[in-house]
Amino acid sequence: MDDTAKLILNGQEYLLPVIVGSENEVGVDISRLRSDSGAITLDSGYANTGACISDITFIDGEKGILRYRGYPIEQLAEKARFPEVAYLLIFGELPTATQLDSFRQDLTYHSMIHEDMKKFFEGFRHTAHPMAILSAMVTSMSSYYPEIDEEDEYRNIVRLLAKTKTIAAYAYKKAIGQPFVYPKNSLSYCSNFLHMMFSVPAEPYEVDPVLEDALNVLLILHADHEQNCSTSTVRMVGSSQANLYASIAAGICALWGPLHGGANQKVIEMLTMIQDDGGDLKKYVDKAKDKDDGFRLFGFGHRVYKNFDPRATILRKAAASVLDRLGVDDPLLDIARQLEEIALKDEYFVQRNLYPNVDFYSGIIYRAMGIPTDMFTVMFALGRLPGWVAHWKELRDDPKGRINRPRQIYTGSTERNFVPLDQRG
Ligand code: SDX
Repeated sequence: MDDTAKLILNGQEYLLPVIVGSENEVGVDISRLRSDSGAITLDSGYANTGACISDITFIDGEKGILRYRGYPIEQLAEKARFPEVAYLLIFGELPTATQLDSFRQDLTYHSMIHEDMKKFFEGFRHTAHPMAILSAMVTSMSSYYPEIDEEDEYRNIVRLLAKTKTIAAYAYKKAIGQPFVYPKNSLSYCSNFLHMMFSVPAEPYEVDPVLEDALNVLLILHADHEQNCSTSTVRMVGSSQANLYASIAAGICALWGPLHGGANQKVIEMLTMIQDDGGDLKKYVDKAKDKDDGFRLFGFGHRVYKNFDPRATILRKAAASVLDRLGVDDPLLDIARQLEEIALKDEYFVQRNLYPNVDFYSGIIYRAMGIPTDMFTVMFALGRLPGWVAHWKELRDDPKGRINRPRQIYTGSTERNFVPLDQRG
């Protein structure tokens, strides 16, 4: 592999260093390009641009590989618990039994939010989207837990992971007009969330292990995905040395978009629309192919995966088994499967490498668990928290870290003089 690349610009040759990652990914380092040549690169949507080097997650889009700190997602989804994976992503290694016990205890004992924060919920209408509540409440955590010194970093990471699930459950209770349910220290991370979501004071609630296991897999599958839109946003905001809560709240807002984490909600809305419209799948596949129609098959396509999304493969199987174990018969699962079958044989989708992504089946499982559609992206955010934290910590720990400040190519008006109001047309 060459260790330099040659750029010829206006007859001048520039040698650019080449770096090769641990999985043989090749990057041309253009850090000195502007100072040497006066030119910059342009890459709309950053499809070909590496924003950083990172040790956290590896994706091979052609082979459908996803690994967290080197561990294949298939093994983690099958054998690990979410707190273990959160620890792995944030601190770099699988925890020992002692480390895991201590981390779990910290997550448990920080689950309650400050009683004053409950008052914030009174200001939200019951129709407020839970992602609006989540981003606002996470930002406001910085007013309760300022970052004074190094030790605060760990405590604030634990507070974020522990309290955000409580805030999410409270957003749901607020929407349905039920009283908030306090976390129970005897419950696991996933069980505690389900307890706060579905317990009612009027009767005892036992968490169904099927739901706990399903949630565990869903959170693990969403835990990180290298430089996606929301994680890049967290790194962008964190690069200004903004505090953890402000950086994560920015990631929550980026995830909300229907092209990103908001897609899981749009998938269910799309499948329901197809069902209500008589189930004419071909009509919607044709609409998705029609450039003038503007309709997209949500849950299909990915910037990186040009083959299957390994998470979708796991979730496709999980959807069938969770619905079976819960005795739920959801016609949307059949519609989803038929849609996938038609699309994967259609030239338009095959040519563009459009396969089901993580959002295509996740909503069907959330639905079967009794989680409402507008909470789906909140569920994605709960899963993605450790990944966002890991990237925020990685950039903060980088002694050579700089504020992110991309350049641009200006295409607007060239210099012109101000025109007084009475002389304008
Ligand atoms: C996530 O980056 C990550 O890692 C994200 C994520 C994570 O874990 O963080 O994996 C989570 O966000 C998954 C993606 C969820 N979004 C959706 O399901 C929304 C539907 N999908 C698309 O909008 C789209 O596929 C994206 C946003 C996912 C990717 O967009 P790109 O890479 O910019 O691709 P593109 O829009 O340029 O599409 C390339 C072509 C275009 O056609 P042509 O102009 O070449 O003719 O494919 C077409 C697009 O029109 N296309 C689709 C399509 N997705 C792409 N056509 C119909 N339906 C679709 N879903």
